[in-house]
Amino acid sequence: MESSLAIRNYQSSDLESCHSLWRELTEWHRQIYEDPTIGGDHPEDQFDKHLAAVGASQIWVAIRGSQVLGLVGLILRGIEAEVEPIVVSETHRSEGIGSRLIERAIAEAGKSGVRVLTIKPVARNVKTIQFLQEHGFKNVGFIDLFMDLSQRPWKSHIELFGRDFQF
Ligand SMILES: CC(C)(COP(=O)(O)OP(=O)(O)OC[C@H]1O[C@@H](n2cnc3c(N)ncnc32)[C@H](O)[C@@H]1OP(=O)(O)O)[C@@H](O)C(=O)NCCC(=O)NCCS
Repeated sequence: MESSLAIRNYQSSDLESCHSLWRELTEWHRQIYEDPTIGGDHPEDQFDKHLAAVGASQIWVAIRGSQVLGLVGLILRGIEAEVEPIVVSETHRSEGIGSRLIERAIAEAGKSGVRVLTIKPVARNVKTIQFLQEHGFKNVGFIDLFMDLSQRPWKSHIELFGRDFQF
């Protein structure tokens, strides 16, 4: 019988699995931007930096049996917090694991007295933006506009306030 999914706090024995999940997160961004250089040669080092910055108490993992299948973190800034990162292992996406992780992060933020919970997906991460909107992220805060002086190709079209942008 397949064991059920549990969400629990990060512990040191999860380190290798979390490195691997961070690599998958980078790989996803490489795919959506068609750019294999994103994240550099050792993207998993970012997990170590993140862990050092937020502490194990602000990271949760999704476990089934002995397998770590997903990861979510919170960066607390007083009454504000940011969900960062959230990732589910590619072969286990669309099984409801991401929903369990985001609901846990929302609940933990609430317990910490957070009033404004943000997450900053890149504009091209369309599926994730749809997933987040379904989980209650219904307000848009900052819009980060930039000019690409290197003339790389961008996708068209995203409409904002009647204006057409690339993403
Ligand atoms: C976004 C993510 C955490 C959602 O986790 P999940 O376990 O796939 O989510 P759930 O199974 O609870 O919900 C599934 C829904 O999420 C959405 N979704 C978002 N990104 C998806 C992806 N890369 N693959 C499949 N579904 C995705 C779909 O709408 C999906 O609905 P569907 O199964 O009916 O198509 C996960 O897909 C992921 O790790 N994506 C890549 C990393 C990423 O973009 N992280 C966020 C950076 S801000």
